[in-house]
Amino acid sequence: MGQIYEKLKKCFEDVRKRTDFEPKAAIVLGSGLGDYAENIQVEREISYSELEGFPVSTVPGHAGKFIFGYIDGIPVACMKGRVHYYEGYPVSDVVLPIRLLGLMGTRILFLTNAAGGVNTSFHAGDLMLIKDHISVFAPNPLIGPNIDQLGPRFPDMSAVYDRDLQKLIISTAKENRIFLQQGVYAQMTGPSYESPAEIHMLRTLGCDVVGMSTVVEAIAANHMGMKICGVSCISNLAAGMSENPLSHQEVQEAADMAAPNFKKLVTETVRGMKPFLSEDK
Ligand code: HPA
Repeated sequence: MGQIYEKLKKCFEDVRKRTDFEPKAAIVLGSGLGDYAENIQVEREISYSELEGFPVSTVPGHAGKFIFGYIDGIPVACMKGRVHYYEGYPVSDVVLPIRLLGLMGTRILFLTNAAGGVNTSFHAGDLMLIKDHISVFAPNPLIGPNIDQLGPRFPDMSAVYDRDLQKLIISTAKENRIFLQQGVYAQMTGPSYESPAEIHMLRTLGCDVVGMSTVVEAIAANHMGMKICGVSCISNLAAGMSENPLSHQEVQEAADMAAPNFKKLVTETVRGMKPFLSEDK
């Protein structure tokens, strides 16, 4: 057994000593969704720091714990806080929580984040359905010996963001009169924001938003065969697109402002996942 899988199994056993909860859907909460737990009937919380070897975030506003509970009867896990590659963790640690959720039973992964708008028609505060991603600027989390227990060596990536879940998010946004952009997310490593020339490059490549998370998580979840969907909250226009220099505080504040719609979209979408979950027991 390789080291990465061994560490994962150890964390899994640690979690199982604390709870036998089996989430069917999991939500990774990005900036602005920090207090999302109020939408959940909470059963159990586990701080990341309780789990030996588990990566713990160093970023303000990303305090880390798992929240297990129910949304409209659906067993869900929420990750409040995630670690980022720029914090210095190996990418295998960055995706460890996602793999752990997979081992616990998660079939659907809902990824959320705050991102910079690259598309010139986007505005701060918009929400965007992630239709696809560009991962070439971040390390691939599957590099190294394949973990055969989790998935295949060369996973197909032609529909990472499940088409039916995309339709569900679009219809949920319409029903709740929530304006929703659609586009492609690019993950950069950070922690510095991009230069204007890099943003120009990303736009030329077909990216609509840019951030420092999500894609490596989607690759690891896709490897394990999870169904994936994602929404970005556009917290700022990317570098060079507005007069102001970028600041973490601005990103946090804009994400907080968009939070009510963001929470509603996530909760109502999860409610709509019921048919997906009964069909693939
Ligand atoms: N760039 C990268 N990551 C981000 C940004 C950005 O402009 N905004 C929020 N996360």
